[in-house]
Amino acid sequence: MTKNKIELNFKLTDGTIQKVEASIGESVMQAAIFNNVDGIDAECGGSCMCATCHIYLSDELATLLDPASEDESEMLEEAAAERRETSRLSCQVRICEEMDGGVIEVPQCQS
Ligand code: FES
Repeated sequence: MTKNKIELNFKLTDGTIQKVEASIGESVMQAAIFNNVDGIDAECGGSCMCATCHIYLSDELATLLDPASEDESEMLEEAAAERRETSRLSCQVRICEEMDGGVIEVPQCQS
């Protein structure tokens, strides 16, 4: 039987881990906002226009995803925090079953 919920681990800027239950098919940004993850602001509401939903994926999670689109990549250049190899905009990342238990880091400075 396939699950429709998974657990994600957000590593907050103070180093603590916030566990969040997330629905498959929603975006990582939605999971973060619904669960009040500190440091994910998502000012544009998921339109790939603000970069305040910037996250760092673990290497394991990053390998599960297609590369960022051109629009996402351009917006990541505008992010307040340093861009890393595993940087993504959380509004552009759809949650899938394989992401269960994955670690997502919140960048130090988002605005
Ligand atoms: S919420 Fe604005 S770019 Fe993701």
